Amino acid sequence: MTTTLVTGANRGLGLETARRLVQAGHEVFLGARDARRGEAAARRAGGRPLLLDVTSDDSVRAAADRVRVAAGHLDVLVNNAGVIGSIESAGEITAADMQACFDTNVFGVVRVTRAFLPLLQRSPAPVVVNVSSGLGSLAVAADPDAYTEVVPVWVPALVYSASKAALNMVTAQYAHAYPAMRINAVDPGHTATDFNGHSGAQTVAEGAEIIVRMAMIDKEGPTGGYFAATGRFPGSPMQRKESRDEQAPGRDRVRCRVRAFLSRLHPVQPGRAALPREWRRGRDGLSPVPAPARRRSRWRAPLRDAQARPR
Ligand SMILES: NC(=O)c1ccc[n+]([C@@H]2O[C@H](COP(=O)([O-])OP(=O)(O)OC[C@H]3O[C@@H](n4cnc5c(N)ncnc54)[C@H](OP(=O)(O)O)[C@@H]3O)[C@@H](O)[C@H]2O)c1
Repeated sequence: MTTTLVTGANRGLGLETARRLVQAGHEVFLGARDARRGEAAARRAGGRPLLLDVTSDDSVRAAADRVRVAAGHLDVLVNNAGVIGSIESAGEITAADMQACFDTNVFGVVRVTRAFLPLLQRSPAPVVVNVSSGLGSLAVAADPDAYTEVVPVWVPALVYSASKAALNMVTAQYAHAYPAMRINAVDPGHTATDFNGHSGAQTVAEGAEIIVRMAMIDKEGPTGGYFAATGRFPGSPMQRKESRDEQAPGRDRVRCRVRAFLSRLHPVQPGRAALPREWRRGRDGLSPVPAPARRRSRWRAPLRDAQARPR
């Protein structure tokens, strides 16, 4: 049976996701920071309650221990717990406001993912879904036409949007570091939950659709992507890779495929990523190394010299 953890599962999209995954045959741990609310939600969804506050190292560690003892591994992790953070205007936002929101939406995801990595690595097909938002898309924020098409409701929200943009990068970096896992970010879309005073246009069933779909992908599924129910987001790392591959004519396309094949054979190990040529690891950390002097071209040099010569 597929073992799944959904964080922030006592209400809203998390609860609906947990309920749907239980229906699909998963054994679901419903993470909740309040024991009583977690137990009530687990009863409603038909899963198992798990006390889990994503902002507390101790709570996350204890939750990982409980899942290890109860199931021995984890197949699917849905990082859903999230907060809106301060909605003051940009000029009023303080660093403390940013920190508070990032503690749940970004650091919380890192805390939970790191604690559960050993259990995910025991799964034959580990999957991570990070619940992001269309508001976290840099491409959408920079292109008003794109956001009306992909994100029908776009509001300026410095704290929340920045946290979800950071989450997208966290997702892309984990996907690079763990190529054997399927790790993606999703945007559920504007959904009526407590989060927005139930002003969202979609029902929780509609909003949870893409979360559930990406939680159920198999080993052949995409990784490092950013998905909404309507498709990939502009700027999604996977989308760029694929379109480069599609556009590359003849030999380039073959080269792309060979490189992708080789990277699967020799995945970059976490912590041992190859450094760009100009950077080297020294005693004092990373330091730039001057690029080797270019050989002067026999043909270009005289021409440049001739141009530089005063007439
Ligand atoms: N609704 C939307 O329109 C929308 C759109 C795009 C993305 N999203 C994202 O979807 C996710 C779920 O949102 P939602 O609409 O379902 O919101 P919601 O109804 O407010 O639910 C948020 C959930 O996160 C939990 N949570 C918050 N802080 C936590 C913490 N420190 N530790 C553990 N759990 C914590 C809450 O638990 P408590 O009950 O204890 O507070 C609650 O269960 C969020 O990541 C949100 O950013 C929502």
